[in-house]
Amino acid sequence: MASKNKNWEYAPSLETTDHINLKKKYDLFINGKWLKPTSKKHFNTINPNDEKHIAEIAHANHKDVDIAVKSARKAYDNVWSKMPANERGKYIYRIARLMQERSKELAVVESLDAGKPIREARDIDIPLACNHFFYYAGWADKLEYAFPNRKVSPLGVAGQIIPWNFPLLMAAWKIAPALAAGNTVVLKPAETTSLTALKLAEIIADSGLPDGVVNIVTGFGDTGAAIVNHPDVNKVAFTGSTGVGKIIQKAIAGTAKKATLELGGKSANIIFDDAPLDQAIEGIVNGIFFNQGHVCCAGSRLFVQENIADRVVRKLKHRMKSLVVGNPLDKNTDVGAINSKEQLNIINKYIKIGIEEGAEIYQSECNIPKKGFFCPPTIFSNVAQSSVIVQEEIFGPVLTIQTFRTVDEVIQKANNTPYGLAAGVWTDKGSRIFNLTTKLKAGVVWANTYNKFDPSSPFGGYKESGFGREGGMHGLSAYLKLS
Ligand code: NAI
Ligand code: MG
Repeated sequence: MASKNKNWEYAPSLETTDHINLKKKYDLFINGKWLKPTSKKHFNTINPNDEKHIAEIAHANHKDVDIAVKSARKAYDNVWSKMPANERGKYIYRIARLMQERSKELAVVESLDAGKPIREARDIDIPLACNHFFYYAGWADKLEYAFPNRKVSPLGVAGQIIPWNFPLLMAAWKIAPALAAGNTVVLKPAETTSLTALKLAEIIADSGLPDGVVNIVTGFGDTGAAIVNHPDVNKVAFTGSTGVGKIIQKAIAGTAKKATLELGGKSANIIFDDAPLDQAIEGIVNGIFFNQGHVCCAGSRLFVQENIADRVVRKLKHRMKSLVVGNPLDKNTDVGAINSKEQLNIINKYIKIGIEEGAEIYQSECNIPKKGFFCPPTIFSNVAQSSVIVQEEIFGPVLTIQTFRTVDEVIQKANNTPYGLAAGVWTDKGSRIFNLTTKLKAGVVWANTYNKFDPSSPFGGYKESGFGREGGMHGLSAYLKLS
C-alpha cells in the first residue's frame, strides 16, 4: 500500500522473504534441546500486516517452566559459575558474531512477526541487539574493574520476561548482561512475538554455549507468572506494562529475589522557541511515530513554547503527510503494523476518548488496508493536563500537544505524570538543557535528539516507570551481588 499523498508516491520495494527458514512448529528451548511442552499446547503467531498464520509456538505451563529453571540451575552450578570469566566472554562474543551473520534473516523475521518496518528492524533493532552482546562480552572478565574494591558474584538463575515492542533487542538487553555477570537464564518472549527469540535459541545452540545456560520458554502471562513465582529463580527482570509490573512486585515481596522492572511511560518532548525547528520536527516524528509508537520511552506528550506553537503544528502536519503507512516489509514504510488486534483496540479506545474529551484531532491521510492492524499517525491539540489521553500510556502513534510559556511551567507540567522514563529537550541554549536535565524526573533526557540508544548508556525509569537500570555498567550491576 502506498501513501495517499500525491507528492510521495513510491514504487513498492518489498524485502524478500525467500531466504527465511521458519519451522512450522516451535517447541521449548531447554537444556540446549528442543523439548515438546508437557502442556501439549501450541498457539499461533500471526503476521499483523495481513493476519496470516506464520508458525505454531509452544505454550509452556508451570511444569515446563520448572524443567527450564532446573536446567538453568544445573548449568549454573556445574558449568557456568565455574568457567573462567574470559571463556564466558568468548561465548558471548560468538553469539554476537553469529547474530551479525544472520542479521538479515533476523530483521525480516522481526518485521514479519512484530509488524515493525523492515528499515527499523534492519538498521536499529538487530544491530543494537548484536551490539549489546558485543558490549557485555567485553565486561565478562573485567567485573572487578567495573566495581573496584568490591567482591562481585553472580546471582544465580535469572528469570526474564520481555514485551513485544522490541522483541530481539529486549532479549539481548536481558540475556547479554546476565551471562556476562555469570548467571544462567530462563527467558520468556511475548506471546505475539516469539520468533526472533526462538531464532536466537538456534544461534545460541550453534554457538556451542553449554546446555542449559540459556533456556527460552514461550507462552502467555501464566508462563511469565510461573517464572516469577518459581522458588529457585534468584532474579526477575521484567519489561512490560505497569499493571503486570505491580503484580510481579507483589509476588516477590518477602522473597530474596532481586528485581528490575522497566515499565510504561508518558514522556515529554519539549520544544523551546530557539530550537532548530526542522530538526525538532524530525525529533517529534521519531519520538512518537517510530515503531508505531510501541516504545516505552515514546515522546508521547509534546510541549511547545506558546509563541511558536502554530508554526510547529503546521510543520508537523506537513511532515505527517509524507509518512508512508503500510506493509512493514516495504523499505519505503515509515509506520508499520500495530503489533496485535488487542493493542489496536487499546489505541482506538484512547482515540475515541480523546475525541469525546473535546480535543482537536488530526490524522495523516493514508489508505489503511482492510486486513491487518493499522493506525494512522494521530495528533491531538487542545488537550488539558487532566485529559485521559495526556495522563495514560497509549502505546501507539498518538501524540498530545500542549503549550507553555516559561521554563518552570513546562518542568511542572512535564513532571506531572505517574511515569518518569524519558524526556526530550530542544533548545539552542546549553544552560537551559542542563537546568532541565536536573529537574525533569526522567531516567533518560535527550537533548536536541530523541530515541537514541547505546549499549554503554544506562536506561530505566523513575516512579511508575519502574526501577533498576539496563545498559552500561549499571545494567551489569543488576545481575551481580556486590559486597
Ligand atoms: P504485558 O505487561 O501484559 O506483557 C509483557 C510481558 O509480560 C509478556 O511477555 C507477557 O506474556 C508477560 N506477562 C503478562 N502477564 C504476566 C504476569 N502476570 N506475570 C508475568 N508475566 C506476565 O503487556 P501487554 O498486555 O502486552 O500490553 C498492555 C500495555 O502495556 C500496552 O498497551 C502498553 O501500554 C504497555 N506495555 C509497555 C511496554 C514497555 O516496554 N514498557 C511493553 C509492552 C506493553
Ligand atoms: Mg506475531
